[in-house]
Amino acid sequence: MSVKVVVGSQWGDEGKGKIIDLLSEKADIVARYQGGANAGHTVVIEGEKYVLHLIPSGILQKDTLCVIGNGVVIDPMALMAEIKLLESKGIEVNGRLFISHRAHVIMPYHKLLDEAKESKDAEKKIGTTGRGIGPAYVDKINRMGVRIVDLLDRKTFSEKLHRNIEEKNEILKKIYGASELDVEQIVSEYQEFDKKMDPYIKDVSVFINESLEKNKNILLEGAQGTLLDIDFGTYPYVTSSNPTSGGACAGIGIGPTRINSVMGVIKAYTTRVGMGPFPTEISDDELNLRELGDEFGATTGRPRRCGWFDAVIANYAVRVNGIDAFALTKLDVLDTFEELKVCIAYKYQGKTITHFPSEIRILNECEPVYETLPGWKQSTTTIRQFKDLPTNAKKYVEQIEKLTGTPAKIVSVGSGREQTIIR
Ligand code: GDP
Ligand code: IMO
Ligand code: MG
Repeated sequence: MSVKVVVGSQWGDEGKGKIIDLLSEKADIVARYQGGANAGHTVVIEGEKYVLHLIPSGILQKDTLCVIGNGVVIDPMALMAEIKLLESKGIEVNGRLFISHRAHVIMPYHKLLDEAKESKDAEKKIGTTGRGIGPAYVDKINRMGVRIVDLLDRKTFSEKLHRNIEEKNEILKKIYGASELDVEQIVSEYQEFDKKMDPYIKDVSVFINESLEKNKNILLEGAQGTLLDIDFGTYPYVTSSNPTSGGACAGIGIGPTRINSVMGVIKAYTTRVGMGPFPTEISDDELNLRELGDEFGATTGRPRRCGWFDAVIANYAVRVNGIDAFALTKLDVLDTFEELKVCIAYKYQGKTITHFPSEIRILNECEPVYETLPGWKQSTTTIRQFKDLPTNAKKYVEQIEKLTGTPAKIVSVGSGREQTIIR
């Protein structure tokens, strides 16, 4: 029996989808514990690309069961579209996917509020994915969210919705000048979803705990990343959940004593989508990382901001998640560089700091302190053994391990399942 949490160590899009798919081969169950359809997890199998938003990346390994935990906010429309797409590619979903009856549901007003808030004040814009994530978690914490269980009873659902929509209509009209919503239409639409979702609904906490009793291997799949965490990220430029490993217990319904290990997925450089501070960011003119790494959002298609590897962030991720091993991805993207920079500290008002600051004001003023390493100028995409990597590529990986005190047990050299070095 083992329970491994897989977390994003930077600002998301580290390659969690690829790594989860790979590890799923030896897992009985893969469970998502937070976030929603804001995630875009890419898996490439024999040249075919799959982008998963809500369904765990384990779904592509035919013997693995998949679970969506109570910590996830579920957009039924996005879920149904994803199931349909997978089935159209011959992937069996029914009987392999289970959804927590405690999970909250994304309603049409959540998406409207998300978009309205973002467009109202361009200065304060977060750059969200527009999937209604923030407003859905607001309702959850405000004790007025709609849960999967609520869909089962038309009367309770309708009453709850009437109350919610009355309030949302006021906000939409008065604050954002947007048009109002029709309650009955939403009730009917969502009860249709309920019928379709019925076969997937389960008490996930019971299922996972019983599976542990049966010595099953379980992967807990985080979405987003450490720096997007509502508590530990670059607040307010974050998502509205806890992607960090601590969120896994509450988002699935298991105790911390059940977790055996935490793997941090980390890119060999850094990217971020949306607004907010990014100390090692470099302009496109300076470095063509975006093009080399095909850095465009898997969910929104937005260009990702790119920069050098940041060991201050990596160390912070190790600390707040308890990471005991890294999966270092996209090493191949650095194949053509003459030399590479790694940020080892920040300079703030003349002082050197190595702890990731909590204040945006300070972060915005932090200048990265770089160490320069020689490039390897050789393709790594067909290498499958660590010892066969060019010497400078090995040195680059080893330097990251040294700076973070954490082994890179997996090194990824391409998007394909097989383009992986396991140490
Ligand atoms: P996630 O959100 O963490 O699952 O990451 P995304 O799927 O949003 O973004 C990672 C992108 O990098 C995807 O397009 C992957 O196919 C791709 N990818 C993953 N690992 C590697 C790698 O080692 N090398 C290259 N070149 N691409 C990779
Ligand atoms: P995966 O799981 C990268 C970012 C958005 C925005 C902020 C808040 O694929 O790594 P939200 O819609 O969550 O309210 O947006 O978070 N964001 C992501 N960035 N990868 C993701 O997921 C993200 N999910 C949200 O761009 O800056
Ligand atoms: Mg992604």
